[in-house]
Amino acid sequence: MKTITVKPATSLKGDLTVPGDKSISHRSIMLGAIANGITTVRGFLRGEDNMSTMHAFRSMGVRIDDDGETLSIHGLGLHGLQEPGDVLDCGNSGTTIRLITGLLSGQSFFSVVTGDQYLRKRPMKRVVEPLTRMGARILGRNQGSLAPLAISGGLLKAIDYQSPVSSAQIKSSIMLAGLYADGETTVREPSLSRDHSERMFRQFGASLERFEDGVTVRGGYELTAQEVSVPGDISSAAFFIVAALVTPNSEIIIRNVGVNPTRTGVIDILKAMGGDIELLDQRELSGEPVADIQVRSSKLKGISISGSVVPRAIDEFPAVCVAAACAEGVTSVRDAKELRVKETDRITAMAKNLRTLGAVVSETDDGMDITGVECLAGGEVESFGDHRIAMSLSVAALVAADEITIKDVDCVATSFPTFFQILEKVAGK
Ligand code: S3P
Repeated sequence: MKTITVKPATSLKGDLTVPGDKSISHRSIMLGAIANGITTVRGFLRGEDNMSTMHAFRSMGVRIDDDGETLSIHGLGLHGLQEPGDVLDCGNSGTTIRLITGLLSGQSFFSVVTGDQYLRKRPMKRVVEPLTRMGARILGRNQGSLAPLAISGGLLKAIDYQSPVSSAQIKSSIMLAGLYADGETTVREPSLSRDHSERMFRQFGASLERFEDGVTVRGGYELTAQEVSVPGDISSAAFFIVAALVTPNSEIIIRNVGVNPTRTGVIDILKAMGGDIELLDQRELSGEPVADIQVRSSKLKGISISGSVVPRAIDEFPAVCVAAACAEGVTSVRDAKELRVKETDRITAMAKNLRTLGAVVSETDDGMDITGVECLAGGEVESFGDHRIAMSLSVAALVAADEITIKDVDCVATSFPTFFQILEKVAGK
């Protein structure tokens, strides 16, 4: 297990890019694999999570060429996937396992999906239950609620499903199954989660209708290969946005970042805290809004965060917690129980680590209260095997009084293999 020590920085400067969006990269392989024709993908994120998706589809007979710049996915059509000869290992990737389980539910073959020690603890009932209602037969540990999952799919029945949580993984899993259902499959959610699937389904020619709190997919329509350009991942950009806000004398520009409104909760939150953040040159790329993000050091203040902004910033809370620990006053987070079932329990993980660094943090069932401090202390903290915890703590180290050692940082490779190189560069080290 790799450990890293990050030293305080005096300022952050630079013009940078971050790797491609993880969510869009996953979806480009999945839809490309079941479309007719060759889908090309530029800006694909070659992190471990997306490589798990790529490997799974190769195991089902899909040819995927990678010349280092562009992926070419030789689509097999809606019914061309082949039964995999072995268990599909989704590694650490919740998006891979939950979305692929929806897709496999529509295949007339047998498959087994599993993942690493962290993924095997994460809840799967949330997709197994609706997919079973559609007619898939899925068995798993703990009454079908934990991976490995064994799936025997086939022609599915369309359902109208009200999801209890706002989750793009649940929504997308059912949408993918809906492509194989007899009729119209509808998924509704309490408030809108990221809508990359809706956008990409439309781009690939799926028959789809959107409404305020949900989406309807019509089954049986073939998809057509597309050219996909993946923007930079706002979830990766978020670490540098927070880093530049909290480090004095900083000014950075992050180019070509996806600013889909279902993902920009972090910008709204940080601006409400007093962050100087500007979106420049707003444009569109493959049906997704994109901008350059300019960030300058700012004096932050504590705010209350709850409601519909939470799913729009769900992956950015570890970074927001660091901003809160450096802000004046109390930041309270509520309606964020989902943070407890991410790669690790992110509420407990951030509370423990920030306390080690001198912040005052109390946990609630669905969130936390963080009282900022003048200056964080140095010390030894741990990632709990979660990439976003590791990267957030590296950001905290830039403004701590002393260096911070972070245990178990290999996990950073799941979403952002070049994180530490870029951090060193902008910190002028
Ligand atoms: C994702 C959805 C979110 C997010 C995850 C990626 C996706 O998960 O946390 O990192 O690509 O659909 P939930 O659907 O569990 O909220």
